Amino acid sequence: MVAKSPEVAAASEVAPVPFVVFQPLGRRVPVSAAGGSLLDLARAAGVDMQGTCGGKGLCGKCRVRLDGPSPAPPTETERKILGAAVAEGYRLACQTSLPQGGSVWVPPQSRPGGQVILTAGTDAGLGFDPAVEAIDLTVPPPSLEDVIADGQRLVGELGQGRQLAEVELPLGVLRQMPTALKAQAGRATAVLWQGRRVLDVAAGHGQPCLGLAVDLGTTTVVAYLVDLATGRHLAVASAVNPQIAHGEDVISRIAHAGLGAAQLEALRARACQCVNQLARAACRQAGASPGRIMECTLVGNTAMHHIFLGLDPAGLATAPYAPAVSSCLDLPAREAGLELALAANLHVLPVKAGFVGADTVAVALAVQAGSLDEPTLILDLGTNGEMILAAAGVMLCCSTAAGPAFEGGHITWGMRGAPGAVEGVRIGPDLEPVLKVIGGGPPLGLCGSGIISAVAGLVQAGALESNGSFAPSLASSRLRPGPRGVEFVLAWAPETGTGQDLVISAQDVSEVQLAKAAVHAGLRIMLDRLNLTRVSRVLLAGAFGNYLEPLDACAIGLLPGVRADMVEGVGNAAGAGAVAALLNRLRRIQAQELASRLRYLELAACPEFPDRFVEGMSFPAPSHSAPEPARDISGS
Ligand code: FES
Repeated sequence: MVAKSPEVAAASEVAPVPFVVFQPLGRRVPVSAAGGSLLDLARAAGVDMQGTCGGKGLCGKCRVRLDGPSPAPPTETERKILGAAVAEGYRLACQTSLPQGGSVWVPPQSRPGGQVILTAGTDAGLGFDPAVEAIDLTVPPPSLEDVIADGQRLVGELGQGRQLAEVELPLGVLRQMPTALKAQAGRATAVLWQGRRVLDVAAGHGQPCLGLAVDLGTTTVVAYLVDLATGRHLAVASAVNPQIAHGEDVISRIAHAGLGAAQLEALRARACQCVNQLARAACRQAGASPGRIMECTLVGNTAMHHIFLGLDPAGLATAPYAPAVSSCLDLPAREAGLELALAANLHVLPVKAGFVGADTVAVALAVQAGSLDEPTLILDLGTNGEMILAAAGVMLCCSTAAGPAFEGGHITWGMRGAPGAVEGVRIGPDLEPVLKVIGGGPPLGLCGSGIISAVAGLVQAGALESNGSFAPSLASSRLRPGPRGVEFVLAWAPETGTGQDLVISAQDVSEVQLAKAAVHAGLRIMLDRLNLTRVSRVLLAGAFGNYLEPLDACAIGLLPGVRADMVEGVGNAAGAGAVAALLNRLRRIQAQELASRLRYLELAACPEFPDRFVEGMSFPAPSHSAPEPARDISGS
């Protein structure tokens, strides 16, 4: 037993309210503040903690160590998930409470902070023709002989040399306009949207006119700030999606939103605050003001899209998975909660289906999927794998429930791609592994690319058989029985940052098999539907795709018939699509056309899916002719 920390002891002397202290942050939280589990308490106090399953006791990601006695023994679930760690005081924060207070240590692998976020995207190579135009004008002042209203005089000046339809002046603009016009004797900058709505009137010429493109991901949010007068990229800012406190995958978020209007609103507000914070952060970098952001484009999967707009996402979770709205939207940004220019416009790209969202449409836009002739697979892998198969102008798309394995979920030592995560593994013929760790330093866990790499290494070393079992004939001290089946020790306790052995278990391998089988089945069925036998090219989008080593993907048979040299990472293509739509209004029309042209395939309704899925479970035979990975895996 460990004595109470001095902080807890001091707290109990000055106040009768018990406190829980979350270490190493040292955050003291009164137990009465939220009640419930340690996970509830942590989240109510803003202590970031992982929890893929949203607190259901399934994922094991919320492990914490109690620095004192526990009021109740570990539950069966905790014993099963935590194994021997229970004896060291580890518990699941979502299954444990400390009504009398105490001290809790949150280990690094349970903290989501510091995630490596992909902000670079493919260059869509697009021209510059934004929807907004900043116009310097001089509006003559009124006089007793000419008492025409400010608004009319402004519109009159805007119409000089332009073909304008009826021009709208929103209330926010009407409020700011008289002062702006008077300040410099009518010299002003007006911002016109699509030639028909004034978004801003500011005193003086040459006022900045900025735009923000947002990729609202389930895990990360990225915002790109651009100058809409020149098309220049000014800054990029990113953050972990704060909704993650309510589960790491879309299904958990949809389930949380389904608890009631207050929960949906809380999720919406978190996303909205995050975008506002990123807008401020990007503006700080560029020395600009968020009040000069005139337009924002936004992409996200259908669940993120719905929640951001405050639309009930319940329909996305049950067949036939119909979205509430699918076409693109133009809305006053303030109505959606964005703190940009008073009358700024929010353009939300179209979604295709319940699980093929505006992010997939944006990816298709960025890579110009409609113009690809040779059979090309465009794959954005995460908890869901969104796939587009494009060939000769035909585009088929589907979403596979790949499961959380690709993002480190449901994996014994899985974690997101943060410093300390193993992102690459090479296993020699002697079964000795070499690990590549994000940021160097001792390993804390395995991120998605690390898990694939570890499994690929075991397959290539002959340690895993085609059915996913560890080869029984292998003699190695690294192979041993464990609580989740046979396990392979990737790093011994003294080498890790957790002080525990870093292992990959038979159950982890099964999770990878399930995830890869779903992707395999999706691609195979799409190929069949287009009468194709194989693709010529694979474009991997998104963070996981970008960090995934193509040789590893091929070694586990993730993509049937694909060689490593056919695979190309295209970065954050969803973000690039959002930027493209911001910089060129024709791209918005193109996005809408792409959404219409994409043919959606509901895999759950395909009779061949079970057979294709089973077929995708097995690993290919080791390919000893495969070239060595051209990567530095020294761990530096
Ligand atoms: S087991 Fe606690 S959040 Fe998943």
